[in-house]
Formats: sequence, structure tokens, C-alpha cells
Amino acid sequence: MRIIEKLESDVRSYVRSFPAVFDTAQGALLFDKNEKKYIDFFAGAGTLNYGHNNPRINEAIIKYLERNGVVHGLDKATVAKIDFLQKFQDTILKPRNLEYKVQFTGPTGTNSVETALKLARLIKKRSNIISFTNGYHGLTMGALSTTGNNFYRDEAYGVRLNTDFMPYDKYFGDDVNTIDYFRKFLEDNSSGVDLPAAVIIETIQGEGGINVASVEWLKELESLCREFDILLIVDDIQVGNGRAGTFFSFERAGITPDLVTLSKSIGGGLPMALLLMRPELDQWQPGEHTGTFRGNNLAFIAAAEGLSYWENEDLSQAVFYKGDIIKEELEKIRDKYKDIEIEVRGLGMVWGLDMKNGGIASEISKMAFENGLIIETAGSNGEVVKFLPPLIIEEDLLREGLKIIDMVIASYMKNRKELITGGAFDRIEK
Ligand SMILES: Cc1ncc(COP(=O)(O)O)c(C=O)c1O
Repeated sequence: MRIIEKLESDVRSYVRSFPAVFDTAQGALLFDKNEKKYIDFFAGAGTLNYGHNNPRINEAIIKYLERNGVVHGLDKATVAKIDFLQKFQDTILKPRNLEYKVQFTGPTGTNSVETALKLARLIKKRSNIISFTNGYHGLTMGALSTTGNNFYRDEAYGVRLNTDFMPYDKYFGDDVNTIDYFRKFLEDNSSGVDLPAAVIIETIQGEGGINVASVEWLKELESLCREFDILLIVDDIQVGNGRAGTFFSFERAGITPDLVTLSKSIGGGLPMALLLMRPELDQWQPGEHTGTFRGNNLAFIAAAEGLSYWENEDLSQAVFYKGDIIKEELEKIRDKYKDIEIEVRGLGMVWGLDMKNGGIASEISKMAFENGLIIETAGSNGEVVKFLPPLIIEEDLLREGLKIIDMVIASYMKNRKELITGGAFDRIEK
């Protein structure tokens, strides 16, 4: 660890939250160099829906390497790419009656978002983009302009231009329909909001604190976009790939986005990002938006194997089943610790325990880590403990991890009582 502290930039992040030197991993388990076991409720920030070192995926990768399959091919035609595209078409798009063309972007999520924003602007010949409060779309300049959290933004970057934020569903509570608010800005010539090329939205905000947009709200958003000739971009980088129980997170709302960004788990654990676009929106000139690392063939192999999980309903059913377990256990926790306000939010296998206080949530994450559970926080001030286990996690491991959270909160509450009754100022909740 000393070498990391000495040589790696101070920008490093997760190594601070989870200060162990990890060595091996399998499924929903990670092991450090001393073979200490950790249950993983973080799943590489959502890249490991199929688990660490998924045996089927590993076997496919090893076979491909052993036969000297092309690893780097820019965007030349390869057998691996053709197989992936065919499988994506047959397993994901066709059964859902979706017609999209696929663009392979640079390998991480923010590359796909950049591409979507650029394409939307190119098509509509307008530069404004609407994003939503608490939205997170990545940290390169274009994507950053659509990311709400001030922690990542700095006036000096000069990226605030050409983006406006609208309130997400329930931003003002249950009684205000924020689509009405958005509509008013579009209708009023003096609102100061230029007609946007596109709206970019997460149907469930991940980094923003597990905020689930309602089906009605998403439908209204789609209609509003159609009415005003605005492209609808769904950013499914974190909650796509089955996280919400269906392959795409927007399936529950029955909407059809114009553009969809996918990354994280699409690569079966390897770096890969893509943009889906309605065929008529494919208005690029050849090579107009290019880059060196597009079409990572090892990721195509891993991704195609990952898609096998979608050849039947088993994974989807398992996600809803295990999602119910998470919900039930978190609600029990909420009801048990009445001294502090806790809110439970989520869908499928993405859940949040909103502790209403960043200090408490980060203390719980830290204590969980000390007890062998890797779990991160989300939300404007890191106030939400975020549950994102691999979708393939075994039920007993899932329950074991949830028990650790319960135990950690019990211990936190006991400490807190002692601090309060002892007259000590509660440093954590400050
Ligand atoms: C919804 C969403 N969009 C975009 C990104 C950016 O992806 P990446 O970190 O791979 O650039 C993330 C990352 O967490 C995300 O959750």
C-alpha cells in the first residue's frame, strides 16, 4: 500500500474507502492478500453484474486467447465483434422489438455519454442539453456538464455552458409533478432555457442516491420530448444490464429512448461502452467520431458470454427474487432503528438506505468494511448506503451481507447512545 500512497495520484478514491490490497475474487467474494474474505455489495460500481471471474466468461476469454484471437482491432471486422453484434441483436434487441444501431465508443461510460451528447447536437443543430438534478453521467467535460454534484464541478473547467438542469421526479416531494415545471420552461419564450437537442436521464439515479423515477413520470417525459422534438437519451450505464430486473431499465415504463448509453456490465467485467441509436439517427460521416480503443475484442468475447444469461428468464426472475429479499431486510432495519430517520428506496437489485446524513452513511460503510462487507455510499452528500451486489450472488451470501449491515447499524446506534448520554458531542453526525 505504501507504494500506492507514494506513487499514485491523490485523486485515488476507492482505495481510501476500502483500504485492503485485494488479490483474488470469485462471484460476490473478494479476498485480500492475507486471504481475508469480503462480501462484495459494490460490484465494481456496477460492472460485475455477472460476478467476479465468472467461470463461463473466463472460460470463453481463455479459449479465445489460447487460439490467438485478435485482441486489439480498432474497429476492423473481427469474428469476436460479429458474434457479439449477432448475439446482442438476437438475445436483447429482437425479443424486445427494439431497432437500434450500435456504436462502439471509447471503453468507459463517460465516452458513451460524450458520444450521445455530440450526436444529439449534430442531429438537432442545437447545443443545449437538459439533464436532471442529482444526475451522474461521467466526468469528462461534456458528460460532466450534465452531472449535478458540485463536488465534481468547478467553474474553472468552463463546462457549465449549454446544459440546463431540471428537477428529477419527486425533487420537490410527491405532490409536485416536475414534468409540468419542465413543460413551462419549454413553453415560455422568456424562460431563459433554450430548446434542447436532447434530454439525458437515468431512470434510476445511481450515484445520485438511488432515486427511482416513476413509470408515469418517465412516460410523461417521453411524450414531452416527442412534443418538442427533443431527443431522449437514457443513460443505462449503471442500472441497465439487468440491474433493474429487465435488461434495460426503461422496459418497466414501456418507453423507447432515441439513444441509449451502455457500459459497465455490458463487457462482462472488461472495459466496454456502446451507444445505441435509432437507425435514422445514425448521421455520422465515416470516421467522424473515432478513437483508438473502440471494440475491445476480449470484451466482445466476455460480453457475448454475459448475454447468454438473457437467453431465458432465469436471471431476470432471480433479480426480482433477491431484490425482494433486499427490500424486506432493509425495511426491517428501517423499522428497527427508530431513533434515526431512514428511508429505503430501490428496484431490482439496486437499493439505497438513505440515512439522511453523510457522516452516518460513511461510518456505516467504513464499519461494514471492517466487518468484511464492501459497500459504498451515494447521494448529494454521500448520505445513502448503496446496495449493488452482483446479480448472481448466492442467496446465503446476500443474507450474510445484509446481516452485517444490521449488526453494524446496531453497533453504531449503541455507540451513538453512549455518546449522547455521556453528554459528548456527536462528531459523526455533525
Ligand atoms: C449513470 C452513469 N453514467 C455514466 C457513468 C460514467 O461511467 P464511467 O465511470 O465508466 O466513465 C456512470 C458511472 O458511475 C454512471 O453511473
